Amino acid sequence: MSLYYLIGLLFGVVNTIRHRVRGYRTPRPFDDSDIDRAIAHDESVVDRWAARGDLSFIGMKILELGPGPDLGTGAIMLRRGAASYAAADLFPLAEAASEEFYARLSEKIGEFDREALSFTLVSFPDLHELSEKFDLVVSNATLEHIADIPSLFVALSHLLADNGIMCHHVDAKTHMRWLRDRDPLNILRYSDTIYDRLLSFPGAPNRLRAGDYVDAAHRAGLDTRIVPGRKLDRSYPHVTARFRNREDLDLLTFTVICSQPSGDPEMKVI
Ligand SMILES: C[S@@+](CC[C@H](N)C(=O)[O-])C[C@H]1O[C@@H](n2cnc3c(N)ncnc32)[C@H](O)[C@@H]1O
Repeated sequence: MSLYYLIGLLFGVVNTIRHRVRGYRTPRPFDDSDIDRAIAHDESVVDRWAARGDLSFIGMKILELGPGPDLGTGAIMLRRGAASYAAADLFPLAEAASEEFYARLSEKIGEFDREALSFTLVSFPDLHELSEKFDLVVSNATLEHIADIPSLFVALSHLLADNGIMCHHVDAKTHMRWLRDRDPLNILRYSDTIYDRLLSFPGAPNRLRAGDYVDAAHRAGLDTRIVPGRKLDRSYPHVTARFRNREDLDLLTFTVICSQPSGDPEMKVI
């Protein structure tokens, strides 16, 4: 048993107790009061969706899952020509965003209509509170917190308009701060019994790899492709048995692009 195994277990148990007692409260690795950093974060998230998904937001009806503590991404996409923006989350984090945040955001990106940034509390994975169709569904660092991705993709396939697109950026690394750079696949070291009993709480990382998202999207009848992000630059023999021999272990972050079936053969490969 290695040192990282023991450290991850110790940190993980403490983290699990904290989440079970206090609930999900810290969606970002910096404080919400750091407004400049929050705005820069929102801009970089939107830029990444645009680049990885080769997207223009012009005229799009957009749904974002799990926006976190503010709706800045929505304001930025409206400024870039989106027709509408709706956010949906399990937790009401975005409702606490400050007036000062939106005032500073509008100084930075230009005027936008606050009333056009809609927010709905929803149940995952069925999203039964939503009934409209969307041209574009996006998320950043959200899907890895959702336990039942196959059911979520089925629900999203019903919400996607004809020719609709989804662009989900996934951070599949260990989320514990001290470990994420030193031992990014630490969460894969533990057996299902240990992970599910000792290291699980609502919103705990689901441990899915890129290929699992592709399978779930295909089962929901969607075409899909993965745009790779950060890769692990060394082999990693420490994972528990069921992750061994997987070919997608080196992908630490990636973007899942899905669409209604188009017959485009490029969309069917990873
Ligand atoms: C890491 S934050 C990302 C927030 C934002 N997208 C960003 O980039 O800063 C994860 C988001 O997923 C949501 N979330 C966490 N656990 C969830 C769960 N079990 N089911 C649904 N959403 C969850 C949180 O409310 C939060 O909005």
